[in-house]
Amino acid sequence: MIYRTNALRAGAAPHKQRRTAMLADGSACAVPVVCPHQGLPLDCEPDGDGVMTCPWHGYRFDARTGACLSGQIKGWRALG
Ligand code: FES
Repeated sequence: MIYRTNALRAGAAPHKQRRTAMLADGSACAVPVVCPHQGLPLDCEPDGDGVMTCPWHGYRFDARTGACLSGQIKGWRALG
């Protein structure tokens, strides 16, 4: 619950922060530090297929595109 409270207090800013994640082919991609679902820490790494599974509610995201593969939400967009 403390994570959700902190996420609500932080507002939208953390959703714009990115970190580097490494894919199985050795390439890197920029992924958000917080999950686009509820803003909780997205502290997982892509699997061999480039899929990140959020540890909080299990939504799955394509690390390359940010698309939510679970279909519940949009996912994230690359920052330009
Ligand atoms: S916070 Fe990531 S799936 Fe809910």
